[in-house]
Order: sequence, then structure tokens, then C-alpha cells
Amino acid sequence: MVKVNLGGCSSFVNDADYKAYVEKSLAALEVLENETGAGNDFLGWKHLPSETLNGTLVSDCEAIRDLWKSKGVDLVVVIGIGGSYLGAKCALEALSHQFAKQLKNKGEAPEIVFAGQNLSEEYMCELMDLVQERNAACVVISKSGTTTEPAVAFRLIKKYIEEKYGKAEAAERIVAVTDKARGALKGLATQEGYSTFVIEDNVGGRFSVLTPVGILPIVLAGFDMNAMLQGALEMEKACAQPSEENPAVQYAAMRNALYNQGKKIEILVAYNPKLTFLGEWWKQLYGESEGKNGLGIFPASVNFTTDLHSMGQYIQDGERTLMETVVTVENSNRSMLIENDPQNLDGLNFLTGKHVEECNAMAELGTKLAHIDGGVPQISLSIERVNEYNLGALFYFFEKACGISGYVLGVNPFDQPGVEAYKKNMFALLGKPGYEEQAEALRARL
Ligand code: PA5
Repeated sequence: MVKVNLGGCSSFVNDADYKAYVEKSLAALEVLENETGAGNDFLGWKHLPSETLNGTLVSDCEAIRDLWKSKGVDLVVVIGIGGSYLGAKCALEALSHQFAKQLKNKGEAPEIVFAGQNLSEEYMCELMDLVQERNAACVVISKSGTTTEPAVAFRLIKKYIEEKYGKAEAAERIVAVTDKARGALKGLATQEGYSTFVIEDNVGGRFSVLTPVGILPIVLAGFDMNAMLQGALEMEKACAQPSEENPAVQYAAMRNALYNQGKKIEILVAYNPKLTFLGEWWKQLYGESEGKNGLGIFPASVNFTTDLHSMGQYIQDGERTLMETVVTVENSNRSMLIENDPQNLDGLNFLTGKHVEECNAMAELGTKLAHIDGGVPQISLSIERVNEYNLGALFYFFEKACGISGYVLGVNPFDQPGVEAYKKNMFALLGKPGYEEQAEALRARL
């Protein structure tokens, strides 16, 4: 369950303003529920938790996991970018042991590494160094099946896997997640006989974490996908309520009320490094959904207390266009006490008997009060602990709130026309057929 606490905004937004935005958010919710708004052909994500829990997708993914286990696969390269990357990356970072690579006992699940999320030659070469040492398999994810970054990475990995294991075995070690009919990846997968999972037309990339885009990597990494879907399901129900109690309505209303007062930048704050990629996933979700037509809250993210020592000064005292949304984790999954030291050379005996997490909680509280005093309103979203269930709840909560918030803002939260501009230029500069005229115009400007 995700609980919203708006107490940290009370000195910034008065009751009447908040209520006005709640009304707008409830109207936006109705549009979303009735599917009468802009982008309404991209609302397939709304019922994914309930639909997937009743379907066979998780067990189909488990079948791939078991097949690869029987082959001794110890490394899976997951290829994808943007919405075809960030959800799985976020989940794996949040749920994995942070030192899994360095631990002697690495557990049974294969190591998951990512590719196709950049175009760095060094990254690819270094990835190949690893792949060559290991018993590898590959999941290639692209809804359009034509995105350059993953396509380049896949061409390189495919060649290597085919050379090492032979074509027939490669076909058992490569799985494609893509559109059911369109795109080069679909054609290639059919031609090569790969197992394929479908990303439905009505789910956009950044809303796709609870499709096979996220589910397959999460299952392969050994995590409990059903628990994640149960957490998402709880929020599917909570975030459908046409009432002021709806947590997605509360969040959407307050962030828009703050935006209307000039708080143009929203910083997602976590006090647990495992949630770093929650910030990355959230930035894509909100940035791509809301940043259009000259509008939109700019989404940023930080990790505290780490970034209090780098960005803390600006947040406390820089230009007053900031709001913070803090993801509070109520309980740690692990326990460590600070013990008494008779010498007390470090002067830390005042912490004797306290848990490390209590220091973290006091840092969070102290920072909240300081930032509010400094003119930074704070929305608090709390979860009980970091686990599959609560991560699923967060994913769904943020998606629903994003749809509502985008409609309140007056944009279509489900398209992304702006991301095409760089692609056209890149294709032209790389000499893709059909882009000759554009290439000439661009070169003239360089
Ligand atoms: O949210 C989006 O639509 C984008 O971030 C896409 O997910 C990203 O561009 C990757 O696209 P594709 O899955 O088609 O390769």
C-alpha cells in the first residue's frame, strides 16, 4: 500500500486551492475510467494487475526461467531502452542484494545485465568481455521492434550467441518481447524461431512494467512476480475510487496545485539506495507523459542522505521552484545496531543502541523540516518496506496518478511526439536510406 501524506505542503497550498485541484483530479479520473480522454487507446495498463494475475503470463515466463536453468545459464543480457528497460532495471535494483556481484554465494538465479540502453562502444565491448566468460542467454525487448539502440546491441549479441552455441541452440537462448505483428524484431523472431512475448498495442512503453517487458526479467532474476502483481492490484482498486481518499487523486491534485504556484521542478527523493532506479523509472514516466506543449513539471531525482552532500545546498537555498516527493520506507528489511564504544573516540556514543535506520529516519525528518523552512514543499509517499508487493503498488500508483495528473495539466499523457526529433537527425547523420535531404540540411548547419 502506498500512503500519501500532504502535511509537508500545508504551509504552501491552502485548503481551498487543494480542494479545487482535487475536484479537477476527480474529473480527470472519470475521464480516465470512462476512457474518453486524449490517448484513450493507450489505457491497457489500467487493469494489468487483475488481468495478469488471472492469466498464464507469469507461468510462461517461469517456463523460460526453468528451461534456461536446465541449460546452466548464469547470465542473461536484457536488451531494451526507455520503457523497455527502466521498469525491470528499477525492480532488480530494488530487490537484489546490493553486493550480489561481490558475494561468494550468489544464489541460484542468473545474473541479469542490461544492454541496448546506450550506444557506447566501450559498454558493448566490456559487456562482450563478460558474455564470453559466461553461459549466456538473451531477452530482447522492443515494442516497436525498430529502436536503434537495442537493435544494434541485439545484432552484436545475436551474432556472438549463434557463433558460440550454433543457430538451433541460439534460438532456445534468445527470447523476444515485442509487438504481435509489427516491426523488424517481430519478423526476425518469427524467422529465427524465437519464443516471443507480446506487448499489447494499448500499453505504451513507459506504462509497460507489468507486461512481459518487466515481468520476464523480474521472473528470470528469481523474484516473486505474483506478489508484485498483488501489490499493484491493491492500488488498482484504491486508485479507482472516485473519492478524495484515492491516493492517486491526492498526489495528482497536490503536485498540480504546487505547479500552479510556480513549483516547476519535482524532485523524487529516496533514502534507500535500492530505490535509485525508481527515480529513473519515475522520471521517464512523468517526463515523457507531461513534458509537452510548453508545459509540465520537470522531474528530477536524488538519493539522500548521499545527495544532501551535493545537491543539499541548492535544494535548501537555491531558486525556489522546487517541490519534493519523498518515498518513505517505514521498515528496513535488515537490522544493524550501533554499539557502545568505551573509548568513544568518534564521539558517537550518543547513538548507542540505535539502529542505523533510525539515524536515516531522523535525517529524513530533519531534512523535511529544513526544506519546508527553506521553501520546498514536501509530499510524502510511504511504503511499509522495500519488497515485491510494495514495488508493484508503487508502479501502479505512479502510473495512475500520472494519467490523472496529465489530464489535469491539459496534455495527452500517453503520447511522446517529442522523442522523434533526435531520432530523425541521428538517422540522417548515420546515412539511413530515405533521410538524404535531411542529412544535407543538417550537415549545412554543422
Ligand atoms: O515510453 C516509450 O514509449 C519509450 O521510452 C520507449 O519505451 C523506448 O523508446 C523504447 O521503445 P521500443 O520499446 O519501441 O524499442
